[in-house]
Amino acid sequence: NDNTVTVIPGDGIGPDIVDATVRVLKALDCGLEFEYAIAGQTALDQGLDLVPEDTLATLKRNRLALKGPITTPVGGGFTSVNVTLRKTFDLFANVRPALSIPGVKSRYDNVDIITIRENIEGIYSGLGQTVSDDGETAELRSRITRTESERLLRFAYETAVKQGRKKVTVVHKANIMKSTSGLFLDVARKVREDYPQLEHEEMIVDATAMQLAMNPHRFDVIVTTNLFGDILSDLCAGLIGGLGVAPGANIGEHGGLFEAVHGSAPDIAGKGIANPTAIILAGAMMLDYMELHDKAKRLRDTVRDVVGKGEVVTPDLGGRASTTEFTDELIRHLTQ
Ligand code: NAI
Ligand code: MG
Repeated sequence: NDNTVTVIPGDGIGPDIVDATVRVLKALDCGLEFEYAIAGQTALDQGLDLVPEDTLATLKRNRLALKGPITTPVGGGFTSVNVTLRKTFDLFANVRPALSIPGVKSRYDNVDIITIRENIEGIYSGLGQTVSDDGETAELRSRITRTESERLLRFAYETAVKQGRKKVTVVHKANIMKSTSGLFLDVARKVREDYPQLEHEEMIVDATAMQLAMNPHRFDVIVTTNLFGDILSDLCAGLIGGLGVAPGANIGEHGGLFEAVHGSAPDIAGKGIANPTAIILAGAMMLDYMELHDKAKRLRDTVRDVVGKGEVVTPDLGGRASTTEFTDELIRHLTQ
């Protein structure tokens, strides 16, 4: 069934916000089926692998996943669940929209930036990570390939066109990292020739950070390599009121994994006050990915409406509602 979604509740606040998302998706009535699976600390506690076989199997079957945040176990030689899933399912693009919600306190209004980050290569690929025996010298290698860069850049330009965007900014550091960043930029210059309808821009990463802080409205779509994208997309989340409202999607050629940008928030876990907005908006991204655009829009509009009014919102947004009360309010709006 093409409408079955693997649901990984995750750790900490994960189960609460994922449950909220599933309730909201059910209320939207889009014919989805949900198949639950576990990963992370929850799996370790049951004596299973960090990403158990059964979980991999359901992901392979459904190729669509809604995932709660996973607590990264401290110590031990664990590879991260997120990196494992990205590599296993070849989720090469990380898409992070930062769209202001009117009414949410933030530094700027009307920010609307999508960051598209390469998700597999670069300095995060974990290649050649060594520390010398005397502990004095550490090394790490970065690898960028033409094939992967081209796949990612094409995806970014296609996304820009599909979403009716006007400008794509390629962020790099090719002046210093002439080999890796230089190759990425070189591929960008070739690929963008196929997109004459878009405005093109190149910007060095440090200058980009400053421009984002001072003048975010000049940006539309940002496309960049793994590390730069990780940092800049968090910066963008900060521009629109922070982690509680920032969704993300990991996209491959054969599927997608949708999640919040934030982590498992151990400091508020179990208190019933986590804000599910970010992962619910990730749910809307999933509906768009499934071409259920009307449902996606309806969900997004409802979230923006309720969150923007600020009457029934969770404490992180200055309200007093519990996760459940906020979710009930969303469902009331969706079903009235
Ligand atoms: P975090 O994002 O969990 O929390 C940072 C701060 O934001 C905390 O004060 C938290 O209470 C608050 N916060 C985050 N999400 C919230 C929400 N939905 N509603 C209300 N408040 C919220 O970051 P932290 O504490 O650095 O990481 C905790 C754990 O999560 C770590 O083990 C980390 O590795 C993991 N993590 C997992 C991610 C994933 O699975 N995608 C992403 C980021 C972190
Ligand atoms: Mg990050």
